[in-house]
Parts: sequence; C-alpha cells; structure tokens
Amino acid sequence: MLAIDLTGKRALIAGIADDAGFGFAIAKALARAGASICAGTWPPAMNIFQNLLERGKLDASMALPGGGKLAFERIYPLDAAFDTLEDAPAEVRENKRYKERGDFSIRGLAEQIRQDFGPQGLDIVVHSLANGPEVKRALLDTSRKGYLEAVSVSAYSNIGLVRELAPLMRPGAGAFLSLTYLASERVIPGYGGGMSSAKAALESDTRTLAYDAGRRFGVRVNAISAGPLASRAASAIGLIERMVQYVKANAPLPRDFEAGDVGHAAAFLVSPLAAGITGTVVYVDNGFHAMGMAVQGPGTVGGAGDS
Ligand SMILES: NC(=O)c1ccc[n+]([C@@H]2O[C@H](COP(=O)([O-])OP(=O)(O)OC[C@H]3O[C@@H](n4cnc5c(N)ncnc54)[C@H](O)[C@@H]3O)[C@@H](O)[C@H]2O)c1
Repeated sequence: MLAIDLTGKRALIAGIADDAGFGFAIAKALARAGASICAGTWPPAMNIFQNLLERGKLDASMALPGGGKLAFERIYPLDAAFDTLEDAPAEVRENKRYKERGDFSIRGLAEQIRQDFGPQGLDIVVHSLANGPEVKRALLDTSRKGYLEAVSVSAYSNIGLVRELAPLMRPGAGAFLSLTYLASERVIPGYGGGMSSAKAALESDTRTLAYDAGRRFGVRVNAISAGPLASRAASAIGLIERMVQYVKANAPLPRDFEAGDVGHAAAFLVSPLAAGITGTVVYVDNGFHAMGMAVQGPGTVGGAGDS
C-alpha cells in the first residue's frame, strides 16, 4: 500500500492559534501521517490558545481519525512581521502580550528550534499566516502603510522563514508550504487592503524561492491555493459566508469544502511522495478556480448536474 508516511519527521506550522483554520487542519493531517508538530503562534493570540489547550477545550478537535490525538511538541511565539528582535519597535517589545515571550522574531524562532532540536532537527515548515490591517478597504483606498504591512506579514515572512529555517532541515527532504488564495489572480471584491497583492507576491516567490532554496539547501517550496473557509482570519474580512456559499454553488464539485481537504493535500506535498514537486501552486478548492462563469444566480445558465 502506498501511504503518506511522515514518521520521524518534525514540522513547524506557523499560524495556529485555534482549531478553526488551515494551520490546525494541516497539523492534524501531518500528525496523522506520523510527524511531530510544533506551532508558531502570534504572541497576542498565544494566551488564549494556551488556555484553550490547557482547559481541554480543543480536545474534541484534536482527536485524530483512526485513533490518537494531536499534540504540540512546542508552541513558539512568532510575530512574522519581524526578522530580528531589534526590528520590533519598543512599543511592541514592551507590550504586555510580547514582553514575557522572549525573542518572537523569525530569527528568534530559528534560534530556539536550533537549541531545542539541534542543528538539523526540522523537516517541514508550513506558513499558514496572513494579516492585512486594511483588508476591508478596496485596494484603491488602501494606504501605502497598510499595503506594505499586508505584503510584509503575509508574503515577505515566507522568505524570512525559508532563509532562517532551511539550514535547520535534515538533508535531502526538507519541504516548505504556504497558503494562498485565488484573489492573487482573479478579482475577489472585498479582499482588499493589498492582500490580493500579497498573495500574488507569495505565489511568485514560491517559484523563485523553489529555485534559490532548492539550489542552496536542497529543499522544496510549494503553495496551496485554498478555497474559502470561515476561519478566524477570514471572518475578519466580513463576507466569508457569502464566499463559501458562492463557491459551493459554482464549483465543479458542489460538495462542502473542508479544511481537512487542505490538510490531506498538504500532507502529500510535504511528504517524500512529492519529491519531484517544487515551485508549484496546487489548487485545493473543489475546482472553483477553473470556472469562468457562475452556474447559479441571475443571468446564468444552469450547469451540468444542476437540473
Ligand atoms: N480562510 C480562507 O478562506 C483562506 C483561503 C485561502 C487561503 N487562506 C490562507 O490560509 C492561511 C491561514 O489562514 P486561515 O484562514 O486558516 O486563518 P487562521 O486565523 O487560522 O490563521 C491565520 C493566523 O495568522 C496569525 N497571524 C496574524 N498575523 C501574524 C503575525 N504578524 N505573525 C504571526 N502570525 C500571525 C494569526 O494569529 C492566525 O493564527 C493564511 O495565509 C490565509 O491567507 C485562507
């Protein structure tokens, strides 16, 4: 039987703070395949996440199909806006949600992982984080500051993670993965604030990083373009329920799109079975990206299987 086997591998998933998003679903899938999981969590969300875990509030969602339970080997503080602690302004460093967390920068994360697991104790890194402070504003109305912050946190951070963490990967099979969205290449009204630009950068960087880091470190770099999910981050956009319904009504596969679909695809992409895949954006969206016309709604024709 050909199985996805991540036994003995260690994954860092950057961007988990609850059980509702893609990071959590990917953690579960990778754990199910045998990997040990570390999380990178945004300091402002860390207390709540740790409380939920300690009080057993996530126990039900941490149960793995087929038995066993997701466990986090470590939960590291990570603010992906900062490459080094010195880059963080004093007001952030002094903020009560950051102060006791040590070095929460990307370099600090790498240093901590090196201390915990040695110079080559990592195999998989998943970038499952994004933030666009002006996401509710049309691109046309987005400030330069808001735009640059969206690109910094949501796209540049992936470059930082690859640069700092690729050297810590065991030779031969290191894999990076990030999460992107169709708004990079098609207009999604409401997905503003420069987030569409950030996703376009993330996808372009996936190709260039695959080359740079493939040649320098022998690692693979891929992205998944995921369908809409009512995660905490997406709910901040405001129209996520409409996007979910629209995709379900119009995608080639009219089934519910689930975070677990992304988890399974991620497990494959970071596994040795995908050894020949790098520099690629894989759509996991029930096929919605392939559509050029809405199936349902005013002025549309009924699609096959619609009758
Ligand atoms: N939900 C969707 O519809 C959808 C669709 C396609 C792609 N994505 C992408 O999937 C990824 C995961 O998002 P999600 O929707 O699962 O939501 P989520 O809320 O589970 O994940 C986003 C995470 O980013 C973290 N974060 C925000 N700013 C950060 C920073 N400066 N440093 C470190 N972490 C930070 C948040 O704390 C949160 O844990 C994102 O890249 C998102 O753009 C989401």
